[in-house]
Amino acid sequence: MNIETAALAFDGNGTPFSKTFDDVYHSADSGPGQARHVFLGGNHLPANWAGRNTFTIIETGFGIGVNFLATWQAWRDDPARPARLHYVSIEKHPFRRDDLQTLHARYAEFAAFAPLLHAAWPLPLAGSHRLYFEDGHVTLTLILDDVARALARLRGGADAFFLDGFSPAKNAAMWEPRVMQALARLARADATLATYTTARAVKDGLTQAGFVHERRVGFGSKRDMLAARYRPRWQPRHAPPATPAWPRRHALVIGAGLAGTAVVERLAARGWTIDLIERRAAPASEASGMHAGAFHPLLARDDSIAARLTRAGFLYALQRWTALERAGHAPDWHRCGLLQLAENANDALRMQDTVAALALPPEYARMVDANEAASLAGIRLRHGGYWFAQGGWMRAASLAAVNLELANKKSNVAMRFGSSVDRLERNGDEWRALAADGSVIASAPVVVLANAADAARLVDFAHPLQRIRGQVAHLNNRFAAPRVVLTGSGYLLPAIDGVAVAGASYDVDDTDTLPHAAGRAQIAEQLRQMLGGEFSIDDADGRVGFRCVAVDRLPLVGAVADLAAARANATALSGAQPADLPRLPGLYSAIAYGSRGLVWSGIAAELLASQLDGEVLPLESDLVDAVDPGRFVLKRARHGAL
Ligand SMILES: Cc1cc2nc3c(=O)[nH]c(=O)nc-3n(C[C@H](O)[C@H](O)[C@H](O)COP(=O)(O)OP(=O)(O)OC[C@H]3O[C@@H](n4cnc5c(N)ncnc54)[C@H](O)[C@@H]3O)c2cc1C
Ligand SMILES: C[S@@+](CC[C@H](N)C(=O)[O-])C[C@H]1O[C@@H](n2cnc3c(N)ncnc32)[C@H](O)[C@@H]1O
Repeated sequence: MNIETAALAFDGNGTPFSKTFDDVYHSADSGPGQARHVFLGGNHLPANWAGRNTFTIIETGFGIGVNFLATWQAWRDDPARPARLHYVSIEKHPFRRDDLQTLHARYAEFAAFAPLLHAAWPLPLAGSHRLYFEDGHVTLTLILDDVARALARLRGGADAFFLDGFSPAKNAAMWEPRVMQALARLARADATLATYTTARAVKDGLTQAGFVHERRVGFGSKRDMLAARYRPRWQPRHAPPATPAWPRRHALVIGAGLAGTAVVERLAARGWTIDLIERRAAPASEASGMHAGAFHPLLARDDSIAARLTRAGFLYALQRWTALERAGHAPDWHRCGLLQLAENANDALRMQDTVAALALPPEYARMVDANEAASLAGIRLRHGGYWFAQGGWMRAASLAAVNLELANKKSNVAMRFGSSVDRLERNGDEWRALAADGSVIASAPVVVLANAADAARLVDFAHPLQRIRGQVAHLNNRFAAPRVVLTGSGYLLPAIDGVAVAGASYDVDDTDTLPHAAGRAQIAEQLRQMLGGEFSIDDADGRVGFRCVAVDRLPLVGAVADLAAARANATALSGAQPADLPRLPGLYSAIAYGSRGLVWSGIAAELLASQLDGEVLPLESDLVDAVDPGRFVLKRARHGAL
């Protein structure tokens, strides 16, 4: 969804200024000076984070990012810094990257940091953007949205708050009582808060939300500022989730496809010990073993849950893959651009209307007509469609390999190939993964089911998962392949190592593991729809895989519900929320990625790892609930059908 960007301007003193809000971005005396005195000093930082493993700061108003850069600098300079600094910042009107570069050129002290921020800076698209610095030890979760909605959708706990909207008189929405209430819901016990303003309305809002505040000496020409602490006189009704206390940070990950290897990488980056259990002899041997696949966003006029999740996953993946490439761990991929072709003239009109309604940045998505589409693709096409300049293809197996390579560098990962998990058994505070002969393959307090549809054999999700057959054709050099990825009725990739992949069939209730004539006919028809002309792919080589799909077409990522316990407590759960559901301790899933494994697997793994370590989540709460593996249990409970 479109986000209105900020316009670069300065006031008479040369201080960055917003004409929309008629206010300056920071004290005229010094932005970095104000950041250190008011926001860091007001929160007793760096002293308060010393020796902590993780420390989380939530800021309202990212603006130019001066506070973020000053905090990052303080973190780097502090020998007692926390292992992980999570900086979450909310911004409704972000600057564009080039304006940010112009602004940052004014702060010489941030010269070592600012270019790294610019390199990771996202397009102005609504939602949560997770950016990594310092090899993942500093994380910036930038939420591009209105403050009230962003805070309401934020899941996690904060140790400190920086309140930095424009002045309350000019930007009341940033200081409303509901904003303070939302901060209180996110505050960990004894969380601190600082702001430059001492406006009456702000003090009252803070007091009502349970913050005890005091006046301190202000920065520069400002006489005073506020520092506060979360000390409600009442027992809060909504506290942030407690950090899980695992007996050992050791996880079994079952399945070494895109889903499992991504989880292994994210957990290893956080120092978990992992046993990866895979029934095949090598990673990416099933669905993730296709020659190559397409990656692209999904557009929907109503910016549906699926569209938002896919946008978050796409942007996250691009950022990660680019960073991997820079670090010399490039998977085999190409951001060659992707055309999503209209099926007919009416479809093209509908797509045109959707792009116009969403008002997206053209670098992300724009509409092209048939002529422009053909010139982008280098071959004749029947219709135009969406042009995703940053889409492309990826060999999933190469991504899985990079995931495992990185994980091995960061932590202790035991790779157990050729081991099939027959069942799971609870033993004390651990899970045991058992083979068919009853022998224990491995045990740990946490299990992540990343074994696609087979997961439903190991636990009951209260709804079946479908296995949907997909057949692709490998077209050889004689075929005039496009320069960019084409999708529409099917897809056609550029030639990769002399092979252009065309596909894929979508066969419900078909378990044939070998390519068949009906599949080839389906692919030929898809090609005809996109390119025009007749195709015979009788002699083409091919491959079959099975997608794992849930009934609502969304993945199942997170803690698995305890169906038996829910049934035993059915009456109480009739009006339940996801947080009320009983869960199987330590049992998580990362499955049902359908046809979107490339864009969903990374963000899903980051979500899961954040949940396991009790960190701020990388996705908004409605997306987290939409992918909750307990959602089918919840639905049944609400309908009295457990
Ligand atoms: C024809 C086709 C085309 C596709 N095209 C695209 C595309 O263009 N773009 C895209 O993003 N996605 C595409 N997909 C989807 C993508 O391939 C999947 O979403 C993705 O590979 C799923 O990854 P996964 O790790 O969940 O599953 P898998 O890759 O199937 O991995 C699951 C792993 O679990 C292992 N396992 C299962 N049970 C057990 C057990 N009991 N014990 C031990 N190990 C076990 C399996 O051996 C397997 O290795 C396509 C899929 C198909 C079939
Ligand atoms: C004073 S500036 C923040 C300065 C910033 N902390 C820094 O270090 O550079 C206030 C910011 O709040 C943003 N803002 C204003 N109204 C908002 C709203 N309703 N929701 C989210 N952000 C908002 C503005 O766009 C602006 O960037």
